[in-house]
Amino acid sequence: MDLLNEIKKGVVPQHVAVIMDGNGRWAKQKGMPRVFGHKNGVKAVRETIEAARNSGVKALTLYAFSTENWKRPKTEIKTLMTLLVTSLKKEAKSLDKNNIKLQVIGNHDLLPKVVIDGLNKVIEQTKNNTALTLTLALSYGSREEIVNAVKNISKKIVKGQVSIEEIDENIINNHLYTFTLPDVDLMIRTSGEKRISNFLLWQIAYAELHFTDVLWPDFTKKDFYNAIIEFQHIERRFGKTSAQIRTSNEI
Ligand code: IPE
Ligand code: IPE
Ligand code: MG
Repeated sequence: MDLLNEIKKGVVPQHVAVIMDGNGRWAKQKGMPRVFGHKNGVKAVRETIEAARNSGVKALTLYAFSTENWKRPKTEIKTLMTLLVTSLKKEAKSLDKNNIKLQVIGNHDLLPKVVIDGLNKVIEQTKNNTALTLTLALSYGSREEIVNAVKNISKKIVKGQVSIEEIDENIINNHLYTFTLPDVDLMIRTSGEKRISNFLLWQIAYAELHFTDVLWPDFTKKDFYNAIIEFQHIERRFGKTSAQIRTSNEI
């Protein structure tokens, strides 16, 4: 495929995060209930995982359900949870076969047991896989994650395991749910909304942001590849000047 060949010539983002948005509006456009959009969003998830794997992206983090999404109608939440369990069951084999490792981030106290059990099974099954780390952000909120990190660091200070002087960016990073992942290089949001909605606030400090009007159920591999190609044309300066970037090998 042409787009993929072009991608392979450039630097591929290590970590891509996706805010999968627009299922409800997609369904509404078709005169259908919101849950119809969620059901049709599953295919786009599959496309995105395959596209990330094909591109050589090492980490893909998908925003599946936010801490704020608990405020939605109970029936919609139930459909989303059921969809997650059935999709996991269907996709487990294919994830494993494609050398993809599944992990989850978020506050899972509120998740139904059937969801936790379903997730744990696939996490265990895929734990030694190395081609791509697929992280599902589930019942995830970035502020909740930061609060949780502050609490855990404070506990260590009280116990004398960490001193206040030792606190640095690394220590904070290591107490976030994403501690095993590199910073996000590219964040994609579908549906035309240009906001972050409490997703990976710390981790996107220097991410490139890609917003597309495509509604999530319509998102395809091609859309993903185009986002990567756009990313590859951006000069990432990390505070330096353009001249410095062009004359130095180190970023
Ligand atoms: C994204 O689509 C899926 C979740 C947030 C779970 P939405 O359900 O937010 O769809 P819109 O934004 O209402 O169209
Ligand atoms: C963000 O989408 C959460 C997920 C994609 C899971 P929302 O649709 O919940 O975001 P807002 O509330 O419109 O910002
Ligand atoms: Mg939405």
